[in-house]
Amino acid sequence: MPTIKVTLPGRSYPIVIERGVLEESGRSMDTYGLGHKVAVISNPWVAERYGPGVLASLRAAGRRAAMLTVPPGEGAKTLGEAERLYMELARLRMDRRSVVVALGGGVVGDLAGFVAATYLRGIDYVQVPTTLLAQVDASVGGKTAVDLPVGKNLVGAFHQPSLVIADVDTLATLPPRELRAGLAEVIKYGVIADAALFVRLGEEAEAVLAADPATLIDLVQRSCEIKAEVVIADERETGLRAILNFGHTVGHAVEALTGYSTLLHGEAVAIGMVAAARMAARLGMLPAADVGHLRTLIERYALPTEVPSALAPEAILETMQLDKKTRDGQLQFVLPTRIGAVEIGCAVPEAVVRAVLAGG
Ligand code: NAD
Ligand code: GLY
Repeated sequence: MPTIKVTLPGRSYPIVIERGVLEESGRSMDTYGLGHKVAVISNPWVAERYGPGVLASLRAAGRRAAMLTVPPGEGAKTLGEAERLYMELARLRMDRRSVVVALGGGVVGDLAGFVAATYLRGIDYVQVPTTLLAQVDASVGGKTAVDLPVGKNLVGAFHQPSLVIADVDTLATLPPRELRAGLAEVIKYGVIADAALFVRLGEEAEAVLAADPATLIDLVQRSCEIKAEVVIADERETGLRAILNFGHTVGHAVEALTGYSTLLHGEAVAIGMVAAARMAARLGMLPAADVGHLRTLIERYALPTEVPSALAPEAILETMQLDKKTRDGQLQFVLPTRIGAVEIGCAVPEAVVRAVLAGG
């Protein structure tokens, strides 16, 4: 089965990608020597659909396992919810050899990862991502976080998982819109690092959109390979890792200004990628034809390409200034130089940013 190794000093871990591996979680944890007391953290829908298989597998492998649920949606990523989970872990007498299993999408992964990073100053956790976005991005790389009322992911920690189990069969129940939002991140990997992946996404769109398991395994595998390479080279985002933020500067601002409710994260990233490509073309860094290729691929996956007309360029600019990625008040963009390569830390004149945000 495809297994990718994220090799980091003292904390390397495998990403297992296959059909049906969720029900082998217990054996996988044996293989990688993980502890015997486990708290699975999930949300009610995912816990009901996939929890029994995971719990049975953990118990069959001799583990004591309990299920803890958090409310669905981004609203669960709070310090209050984290505190409630700490209390539950303490009630279960979880110790330093105990393990948290995050079963769900990126929300559950970020929250459970943050709890694992901070409970007893850090315990092991296993990511079992069940959305495409979480399988190709959020479950890999060790970024964990909760939100504050003033902004997303403002409190967090780098804490790498001990194991990632990506069961593509779980994607069969994913709503099509969520699948497409995850595909925006796969398109991102094509633009930042792999022109062949980009071409393939165009050629195989029908199989991808039909959630063909073999095609999805390949896409998840290639995405995780790229992410793993980047994280191995720059775990703490001191440089190269910023390439993963392609499309996210405008994307995050659009998400924030639409209240994190109208657009899914991947949809906002799709808009941000087209905006970044247009900036690059205006600056003469990217052939105009490549903007067209990107836009066509994004449209093929029925993802948005335009900033919502209700959002004023000025408001987006202001929100981007508050972003974590801003350095000394200077906006930084990741801009493509061709399909398959990007440059980080690009300072773009405000007039160019405004023109692009206004639809130019
Ligand atoms: P999500 O976790 O909210 O999941 C989306 C929806 O899908 C939820 O309603 C969930 O209940 C449902 N769901 C999950 N698995 C399902 C399945 N198999 N079948 C049917 N429904 C299912 O959203 P997401 O897009 O997975 O993650 C978004 C979050 O990830 C954001 O909080 C974002 O900040 C975070 N994120 C983190 C990183 C990182 O590196 N840590 C990277 C990208 C995004
Ligand atoms: N999702 C961006 C990163 O992990 O760095």
